[in-house]
Amino acid sequence: MSIYLDHNATTPVDARVLEAMLPYLQGCYGNPSSGHRLGRESQRALQRAREQVAMLVGVQPTQVVFTSGGTEANNLALKGVMAMADAGSRFVVSAVEHSSVLQSAYALELAEYELNVVGVDDSGVVQPATFEQALMEGRTSLASVMLANNETGVVQDIARLSEVARRRGVVMHTDAVQALGKMPVDFEALGVAAMSISAHKIYGPKGVGALVMEKGLALQPMLHGGGHEAGLRAGTENLPGIVGFGAAAEILQAELNPRIEHSFRLRRYAEQALQKIPEVVVFAQRAIRLPNTIFFAVQGIEGATLLMSLDRDGIAVSSGSACASGSGEPSHVLRAMGVEDGLAYGAVRVSFGSENTVEEVDLLISSLQRQIESLLKLNSAWA
Ligand SMILES: Cc1ncc(COP(=O)(O)O)c(C=O)c1O
Repeated sequence: MSIYLDHNATTPVDARVLEAMLPYLQGCYGNPSSGHRLGRESQRALQRAREQVAMLVGVQPTQVVFTSGGTEANNLALKGVMAMADAGSRFVVSAVEHSSVLQSAYALELAEYELNVVGVDDSGVVQPATFEQALMEGRTSLASVMLANNETGVVQDIARLSEVARRRGVVMHTDAVQALGKMPVDFEALGVAAMSISAHKIYGPKGVGALVMEKGLALQPMLHGGGHEAGLRAGTENLPGIVGFGAAAEILQAELNPRIEHSFRLRRYAEQALQKIPEVVVFAQRAIRLPNTIFFAVQGIEGATLLMSLDRDGIAVSSGSACASGSGEPSHVLRAMGVEDGLAYGAVRVSFGSENTVEEVDLLISSLQRQIESLLKLNSAWA
């Protein structure tokens, strides 16, 4: 038995996406920059994928800069915008950002820009008043707050935060990597200046993403070389990957609503069952969350232990974020929410996808009940 409940870490490649990619791994191998027929064919495929991705988030194709993924898009947004600012300028990121934003922020801090980390409330939400306060504590050039959190699934009111940022003349970036595919994501409606997205969270291939930018946003490239991606990201394009991203985007546009409904149904069903297990605490239940995500802890059991026990039953979940797990530290997101370490160590994330079924949720719950019972028995035998 194999049940995959870790779609926030990554999704399987949709068979239709793979089919769209295959020609670009075989016959259509031209470099999109080449002037001959093979090159022109690749250039057309690149343009089509750019249109498909642009259409999904409601922008013009020229506003899409393809990157090697969400991590690079986040690095480009933060470092690229701050490189245009005066030395010593300030920037704001939220305490619950993905490591690719937080680590970029720490690197910028070492380069002598001033970092201000804005906190969240106990539901994991960045409050607009706290955000505005953070922007006002000096001359701020950039702010970055994620649209949806990869661990808790908590969705921020980015439109409201962007309005605050615009009023204060601050460039607003959002990491929408986790939101895309699980809720509507419209660039204009969010009001941001830049937004990161990634293909492998929407049933596309790994290693490809994009930074979506408003027209005229001033940004320094991180990679220098040829004039690819309007001079913002040098390097021969990962054409099969980009074509796959485009195909995944087009499919998503047609299927978003049923995917959302399906996820909501599974989550409601799973949470009702989880409520009957007395040791379970579900995080951020009062906040608006992605429909597919449940982040919970079992009192008295470590998340990593539960993950391994479920894995033995063929069920794949995550303990905290995929990138952070293995670090031995409790989730920085839960810490920012004020969750005590004892409970935070127990955190487990279940994230549903379109191929999951109610029967799989039943198997998850029965396996959880069995594992919790035997692990707690083991714990009390040692106590
Ligand atoms: C919120 C968020 N941002 C960024 C990333 C990084 O994206 P990628 O894996 O495409 O580099 C992830 C991946 O887990 C994520 O969840």
